[in-house]
Amino acid sequence: MTESSEERVESVGRVDDIPENGGLVVEVAGESIAVFGLDDGYFALTNVCPHQGGPLGDGKVEDECVYCPWHGHQFDIRTGEHGQMSQLDCQTYEVEQRGDELFVHL
Ligand code: FES
Repeated sequence: MTESSEERVESVGRVDDIPENGGLVVEVAGESIAVFGLDDGYFALTNVCPHQGGPLGDGKVEDECVYCPWHGHQFDIRTGEHGQMSQLDCQTYEVEQRGDELFVHL
């Protein structure tokens, strides 16, 4: 679903689709995105790790961070910030919940 010419809002699935302690990987508008659930809401990061392209959505989630499955770099799920190197901060996307359905703003 596209809502404006400047910002795209795309459905990415339902809240129940998000695995416990993991991410839901979706392909939206040519982007691979990982959607995560925390206690107070839903957040999305690029699924492509800024280090060497690992699949962040397959990483382990712990303490509101995701650990890339390839080399273990740590990213804050809320902000996309790398735990130690700001040059490796990753792209975030706003997630909107409407009922049980989740939408990502691109
Ligand atoms: S590719 Fe993600 S930590 Fe290396």
